Amino acid sequence: MTLFLIGYRGTGKTTVARLLAQRLGWGWTDADALLETRHRRDIRQIFDQQGEAAFRDMESRLLDELCTYQRQVIATGGGVVLRPENREKLKAAGPVIWLTADAATLWQRIQGDAGTAQRRPNLAGGGLAEVQEMLRRREPLYRECAAFRISTVGRSPQEVADAILTEIKSSPPQ
Ligand code: S3P
Repeated sequence: MTLFLIGYRGTGKTTVARLLAQRLGWGWTDADALLETRHRRDIRQIFDQQGEAAFRDMESRLLDELCTYQRQVIATGGGVVLRPENREKLKAAGPVIWLTADAATLWQRIQGDAGTAQRRPNLAGGGLAEVQEMLRRREPLYRECAAFRISTVGRSPQEVADAILTEIKSSPPQ
């Protein structure tokens, strides 16, 4: 089995993937970090040099590979749900868990994470308005893929990982 974490930037996908994997005794992979290693550039450079469509192609190709993994928790990039074929792949490959937070909380977290700002491109002009706009566009896409959603507001990453484990135990995926 493979668990995929989806959700917008700032929902804690990477940290939660690591903690969840520790609890399960599984491996974990951060899809964006693996993509950056493979292409020897950070995502902002890929966007700047080749454009978003090229990045999305790389992301889709990597997702094919990630879908073959076993006993892994995978933190996906926040935009992986944009392509319909990615949503189909995710739904078929594993339980998909949607981490959520409101726009103001996400914007606060993103501002507090300088590494993210440096390595990640702006997607709709930046700022709180960007987060609001992207959530408005993407929430239906996250919802479509997700087996269940977990709010990260007011919870530490460890508490989010615990909430996911409780949910999985109460309704194990078929
Ligand atoms: C993106 C989110 C990023 C990264 C890329 C595009 C998006 O991942 O994949 O910058 O479209 O939301 P994180 O969610 O890890 O920031």
